[in-house]
Order: sequence, then C-alpha cells, then structure tokens
Amino acid sequence: MPPLEEEQLFPSTPGKIKIERPAHHHPMNRGIHRCFASTFTMFLWALLLIALTASYLSIQSFVDSGGRYIHRPVPRHHVIIGGPHWEKQIRSSAQIHRPHGLSVLVTGAAGFVGSHVALALKKRGDGVVGVDNFNDYYDVSLKNARRALLETNNVFIVEGDINNVRVLAKLFDVVAFTHVLHLAAQAGVRYAMENPHSYVHSNIAGLVTLLEQCKSADPQPAVVWASSSSVYGLNEKAPFSESDRTDRPASLYAATKKAGEAITHTYNHIYGLSVTGLRFFTVYGPWGRPDMAYFSFTKNIRNGKPITIYRGKNRVDLARDFTYIDDIVKGCVAALDTSGKSTGSGGKKRGAAPYRIYNLGNTAPVTVPTMVSLLEKYLKKKAKKRVVTMLGNGDVPFTHANISLARRELGYKPETDLATGLKKFVDWYESYYVDDHGMPVNY
Ligand SMILES: NC(=O)c1ccc[n+]([C@@H]2O[C@H](COP(=O)([O-])OP(=O)(O)OC[C@H]3O[C@@H](n4cnc5c(N)ncnc54)[C@H](O)[C@@H]3O)[C@@H](O)[C@H]2O)c1
Repeated sequence: MPPLEEEQLFPSTPGKIKIERPAHHHPMNRGIHRCFASTFTMFLWALLLIALTASYLSIQSFVDSGGRYIHRPVPRHHVIIGGPHWEKQIRSSAQIHRPHGLSVLVTGAAGFVGSHVALALKKRGDGVVGVDNFNDYYDVSLKNARRALLETNNVFIVEGDINNVRVLAKLFDVVAFTHVLHLAAQAGVRYAMENPHSYVHSNIAGLVTLLEQCKSADPQPAVVWASSSSVYGLNEKAPFSESDRTDRPASLYAATKKAGEAITHTYNHIYGLSVTGLRFFTVYGPWGRPDMAYFSFTKNIRNGKPITIYRGKNRVDLARDFTYIDDIVKGCVAALDTSGKSTGSGGKKRGAAPYRIYNLGNTAPVTVPTMVSLLEKYLKKKAKKRVVTMLGNGDVPFTHANISLARRELGYKPETDLATGLKKFVDWYESYYVDDHGMPVNY
C-alpha cells in the first residue's frame, strides 16, 4: 500500500529556486560570486529542507496521534501495523466459530460499551477485531485493563486512530468484515466546552474516514453506530421518540452526534451502506466511564470527598433514563443481527439499503439525587453534597426514551432497573479499585 501521508507532504517536483544574477560581472568576482551563489543556494535548500522536515514531523505527529487537539494516545507497547505476526493475530481474532456468524470490526473496543459488546459477540462465536486509539480522555490504565480482558478471550485490539486511512485499509485488506460496530467517539457533554476540536476530530472527521473505508470495501459491511439521546436536546415532550425533532442540540457533543446521523444517511443514500444509528440513554455499569457522574460520585463518596449535584431551573432535579450496560449490549447485538445487507460494492450503489435509528433506553427516568441515595446505601456512607444550579453547561434537564420501535423491530427489552444495576456497578468498583484489605488499587 502506498505511504499516503508522505506522498501528500512531499510533492514530486519541488519548486525551483531562481538565483538572481547581477547584470554585469567582473571576471575576478565571478569565482567569488559563483562560490557565494552556490553557498547561498545551499543555504536556501537547507532552509527549505528544515521547513519541510519540521512540517512533516508536525503533520506526521498529527496523523499518528490522531490530531494535536485530542488527548495523546498512550501506547502500551510499540505497535507495528502489518507484517505476518500482526496479520495472524487479526485473522485469529476475526475467526468465526459458529454457523452464519458475523465478522465484526468494533471501533472504540477499549471503551466502556465497546469492550462489553466485543466480548459478548466473541462469546457467541462471532469474529471480532477491535480498533481504539487509547487516548487519555480518562484513565488509560482502565482501557488497558479492558484490553487485557479482551485479549484473554482472543479479541485483538489494534491501536490506531479511526482517522488513520492506512490502518483501516490494512484491516479491511486482511478481513472481509460483514459488520462494523462503530463506537469510537469523543464522549462527554461538558468537556466539549474545553476541547471542542476533539469532538470534530473523532465524531465527524473520524466517522467520515471510517465510512469512506466501508463504502469502498468489497463486500461492503453493514454499519451499526452509536448516536446519543443528547440529539433530543432541549425538547420538552416526553418520552423522546425517534420521530421527534432533533434540531436543538444543547452541546457540541450532541451537535456532532446529530451531524453523524446526517452523514451516515448520505452514505446510505449514495453508496448503499446499511446503517443503523443507536441513540443510547446514559449507559452505566461495571467497567464504566470514570467521567460519568455515577462513577465519579462513587469514587468521591468512598473517599469522603464532596460531590457536585447539578439542578435545573426552578430547583428542579435533573433526571436521566439510566440504562444498564447488559441491556445496551443486547440492543447492539440485535441491531447487528437485523441490520440487513449493504447493497453497494467498491463504492457503487446497487439498490436501496436499510437506514434505521433506534432509541436504546430504559424508559424509567430517575433523578440524580435518587441515584446518589442508592450509592450512599450501597457504599454505606453519606455523600457530602454541593448542589449547584445548572448554567448552560451542555446538560439537559431530563432524558426519557420511548423504546417501542426498538422493542418491535429489535426485540429490545431492558431488564435491569437502576437499583439492581448500580449494586452491580458498586460491587465491580470495589473489586477493581479496592484490595482484600480495603486499600485502594488500580488508581
Ligand atoms: N456511555 C454512555 O452513556 C453513552 C450515551 C450515549 C452515547 N454514547 C456513545 O456510545 C459510544 C461508546 O461510548 P462509551 O461510553 O463506551 O465511551 P468510551 O469513551 O469509554 O469509549 C470510546 C472509545 O473510543 C476511543 N476513541 C475515541 N476517539 C477515537 C478515535 N479517533 N480513534 C480510535 N478510537 C477512538 C476511546 O479511546 C475510547 O476507548 C460513543 O460513541 C458514545 O458517544 C455513550
């Protein structure tokens, strides 16, 4: 495969540099002048070389790291993409062990949802390969621990950014993926005010790079990807249905997910890619995301530190349709199983392909103070609460999913209520972060 980045950076014909000659030369000066001219030429070439090297290095580090404005990926070990050993690992990970099994590329496989779904697919005999850039938006050691768990189940995660065309092309060279489960994204609502470009990088540019790869693959995979309940934005009508308006996002995160729905629609329309968008509602559970409230509250309550609880206008408590990870996993797997085929090949559409969007929620919103009192009960410790009125920080007052469509078409039926799910989370938290003597580990 050609080294794309290098070719783009170094044009085959570098610009010519014309050295001005004075109109009249004295013969005696000619030698000196020639010498000066050639020194000057060399100096200019050296300058050009330094400039090119500097720009190459900065762009190369941009390409490799997945962008200067995203968190630096922290590699566990030096990773070489390609080569017989690498390909063998990929093939073994992608091996299907059941009749009519799927072969799935899971992006964001070292993440919370990605690691759970990858494991579930592998356990039922599907072939699974992960890709993740291991960025340090939150504790990378947790991502590495998820990776280790997946590795013991023969799921291999390639360390790479979804913006890296070469990594994606190489993966599709080695495996004819039937499905792509796209979960890699810059998550988090409030953080978008701090680092907006990381959302554009992963949720927009990365999505397009991935879809470009999928559309030109032959065979084309079906794409199932994570949108978000945040697309309902400032809507007040509850519960939220898929047919409701989604044009009033309250955060840049929500706006990038909404853009993702429009972008995937285009690829479905032009190239015949089968696309299913899943609007997840506040997913929680073991191996969860440390930046989410239920997780950080657990940590702070255990450590006797204060927690900040946001409240809406008129002192109204925020409420979330908390959805347990096992229910989300079942929804993702059902979406993959029912996705229907992409119709195009090699970038050409051959007929209409499915384009679907589903809410995956729990249909039982719970207020944040109720969630906190459950944590206090399980942790046997009172929280030090600091209640703050929400100041347009990207949060919405409530979320509530109507899941009739997913129930009807995917057989989706959430089974875990918040009390049961949070207990499982706290049990996991204590087993992961606390040793037998009650001392903190894995911090
Ligand atoms: N957890 C929730 O409550 C929730 C709710 C709605 C939507 N979602 C969506 O579900 C998906 C999974 O969320 P999660 O909670 O597991 O988040 P997560 O942050 O744990 O997982 C995302 C993973 O993607 C990786 N990643 C990010 N940018 C990447 C890039 N450019 N290239 C390669 N890898 C990259 C990260 O390293 C991370 O491991 C995301 O798309 C998220 O937006 C999650």
